[in-house]
Amino acid sequence: MNVSLGLFLLGFYFVLESSECRPSSPCLYPPAQWCRSAEKCGVQKHCFEQKADGLNQTDSPVEVALYYESLCPGCRQFLVLQLYPTLLMLHDIMAVSLVPFGNAQESGQKPPYTFTCQHGEDECLGNMIEACIMNLTQFSFPIIYCMESSEDVIKSAQVCFQLYESKVDWNTVMTCVKGDLGNQLMHANALMTQALNPPHQYVPWVTINGEHTDDLEQKATSSLFMLVCSLYKGAKPAACTGAAKKVDRSYL
Ligand SMILES: *[C@@H]1O[C@H](CO)[C@@H](O)[C@H](O)[C@H]1NC(C)=O
Ligand SMILES: *[C@@H]1O[C@H](CO)[C@@H](O)[C@H](O)[C@H]1NC(C)=O
Repeated sequence: MNVSLGLFLLGFYFVLESSECRPSSPCLYPPAQWCRSAEKCGVQKHCFEQKADGLNQTDSPVEVALYYESLCPGCRQFLVLQLYPTLLMLHDIMAVSLVPFGNAQESGQKPPYTFTCQHGEDECLGNMIEACIMNLTQFSFPIIYCMESSEDVIKSAQVCFQLYESKVDWNTVMTCVKGDLGNQLMHANALMTQALNPPHQYVPWVTINGEHTDDLEQKATSSLFMLVCSLYKGAKPAACTGAAKKVDRSYL
């Protein structure tokens, strides 16, 4: 658990750092999203320099999709140790989608559908909470990461949500989880998972630009970072090449 605690604290550090950089108007985004709202966050210079590094953002990002279950150990490991760290480093050149469902089963011909999960009811609840959070918040990945890296995925959900979405009532999420919206979102995940070609045989199941092969899965699970760097067709960011990068340093 030491590694996940470390990563959790790292996430926490980013939050603290962002609050320190608040000039007059509050920046309501974590650092990974700063350049989408650079003006609000007072980091225009930082974002301008990043562009000047030679990133050709007209090239399409590498699309990484993870089909997973909230309580499956291999899924948690991939999400926490590969997917999230890679996204933090390479967010300019990759796009991530998360589809919680995996080996779950859906029954019923019309809504509300019934779901059964490999790791029991708690797993269905975890899948549903995550699907709802992804639907209800704009930047949900830190929250999902926080849950999946914690000791107890379900018990940590509210704390993790509130850490990143302090202004949204947790009841909004639970209303989704218990209601039609959650059911509809999970049904959509079931359809997406069933539409996989080739069909998934295990979880975590990774697709890269919509494609799954044993080779891609193996490369993604050993170093997703290197895989994304190698597949990106535009000018590689400094994180991929080790090229010198201007850093906006502050002294005192
Ligand atoms: C960026 O990449 C696209 C597609 O590869 C290319 O057409 C375009 O000329 C590039 N732009 C710059 C500024 O390098
Ligand atoms: C949330 O779910 C609703 C209903 O399925 C959908 O119309 C909407 O686009 C979703 N929003 C996001 C951000 O995914």
